[in-house]
Amino acid sequence: MPRLMIVVASTRPGRVGLPVAEWFRQVAQDEGSFEIDFADLAEINLPFLDEPHHPRLRQYQHEHTKAWSRRVDSADAFVFVTPEYDYGMPATLLNALHFLVHEWTYKPVGFVSYGGVSGGTRSVQMAKLVTTSLKLVPLPEAVNIPFVSQFLKEGRLEVNEITATAADTLLKELARWAESLAPLRAKAA
Ligand SMILES: Cc1cc2nc3c(=O)[nH]c(=O)nc-3n(C[C@H](O)[C@H](O)[C@H](O)COP(=O)(O)O)c2cc1C
Repeated sequence: MPRLMIVVASTRPGRVGLPVAEWFRQVAQDEGSFEIDFADLAEINLPFLDEPHHPRLRQYQHEHTKAWSRRVDSADAFVFVTPEYDYGMPATLLNALHFLVHEWTYKPVGFVSYGGVSGGTRSVQMAKLVTTSLKLVPLPEAVNIPFVSQFLKEGRLEVNEITATAADTLLKELARWAESLAPLRAKAA
């Protein structure tokens, strides 16, 4: 079964990102196309990029980078659960991307974003610019949740039909792309 890494991008105490990601994890588990790796950047706790060499060389000096490398390497697809900060992507996600190069290559990434009126879409657009330089393949299908706080009930996310359908569509597209890109990854390896 292909492996999907769900990355929780926000790390703030009391973050909305955690219930959003937990909701998506449950949807992905029920959908059943992927084995799930739930990667919470708050737990992983990467420092700001502290490797002396360009990550394309894979000459990692630090154990935290080696562990992050192994984990990302083992994924076949990603979903980034991301807020929008100051009309852009959060520094935590950008930093986690900077640590590696080849580990991301030829893998699809979908976005679950949330926020105010924009539903986090400006964050996603910025993230697409960065992810394509790493040869991640960002999908147009996405889950964008505007005014996210109205969907939070006692610390859990309860979505409407539009969001539920979007999540299902995203997972199906991710499964297609993960399978289609696998031969390209095998060739590159
Ligand atoms: C530093 C910061 C910047 C923000 N900028 C935006 C923004 O540009 N657009 C938006 O819709 N919401 C913005 N917000 C509000 C967030 O949508 C809201 O706080 C959300 O809960 C953040 O996600 P998190 O709780 O997972 O960190 C911002 C919040 C913070 C803390």
